[in-house]
Amino acid sequence: MNTTETSTVHADRNHAGADAATIAMVDMLELDAEVLGTCVSELTARLDELTDREPRRIVDLGSGTGTGAIALAHRFARAGVTAVDLSPQMLHRLAEKAYALGLSDRVIGVRADLNDGWPALGTIDLVWAAASLHHMATPDRVLAGAFDALRPGGLLALTEMDFFPRFLPDDIGVGRPGLEARIHAALSPAPAVDWTDQLARTGFVLEARRPFSVDLAAPLPPAAARYAEVCLRKLRSHLDEQLPVEDLATLDALLDSEGPHSVLRRDDLTVRTTRTTWAARRP
Ligand SMILES: C[S@@+](CC[C@H](N)C(=O)[O-])C[C@H]1O[C@@H](n2cnc3c(N)ncnc32)[C@H](O)[C@@H]1O
Repeated sequence: MNTTETSTVHADRNHAGADAATIAMVDMLELDAEVLGTCVSELTARLDELTDREPRRIVDLGSGTGTGAIALAHRFARAGVTAVDLSPQMLHRLAEKAYALGLSDRVIGVRADLNDGWPALGTIDLVWAAASLHHMATPDRVLAGAFDALRPGGLLALTEMDFFPRFLPDDIGVGRPGLEARIHAALSPAPAVDWTDQLARTGFVLEARRPFSVDLAAPLPPAAARYAEVCLRKLRSHLDEQLPVEDLATLDALLDSEGPHSVLRRDDLTVRTTRTTWAARRP
């Protein structure tokens, strides 16, 4: 069944029915936007240079709370942006933000499961998919749907995280520095996918492939410590029995917001991550 529906700002605004993981993800995406918003703004500026004409119909695939959709609406002031996401909670937050910014007439949420196929959205000038394609069960079908929906000359901008953000100084760890490195090693994340070949197989012509490094040190944006806490808490939820008890205790102390060792009280955090963006054109 293809579940497609349009969300409006009048929809239920609270998190009723949302599980804890979704609420945490909403929080994380909002903090990510606050801390790393300049990356998104630089990317939309780059797309502005690559487009062959001003985009008027834009789709944000797996929009989450709308960081990309809203940045695109700001960059392309005459465009309508359709934000597609599976999660009603994400779309409610997006609708709230669009309303607060006076963008409700140009940023519309559509609830759809992209694993069920591409929703009927008409012909598109620009498709944006940030940190979403790796969630899809059949990314090749989603890319083929994007290709078919784009007009000839239209652009796809695909961004994925190369590795989960890191925040802690190397010397953290009781008697054994390097706690954060051990956390990531214990979770052994799947290597980031290089989408270059898949894009070519789908018929796209690659215009740019751009790694984007983030390396922020003090003074950090005000939301950075909360961002660190939310990201580390997400990792913590997968770490039981994956790390020695001393490491888990150290991590729990860092995540105790009221405690003396909380990350919220540290002044030595950094934010390090890299993302890669592919810009590809339908010939
Ligand atoms: C990591 S978030 C990225 C959100 C946003 N693009 C950003 O950069 O902030 C991934 C999003 O993809 C959505 N998603 C995952 N699988 C999906 C599917 N099959 N169909 C539609 N959306 C999906 C999730 O609900 C989530 O909002």
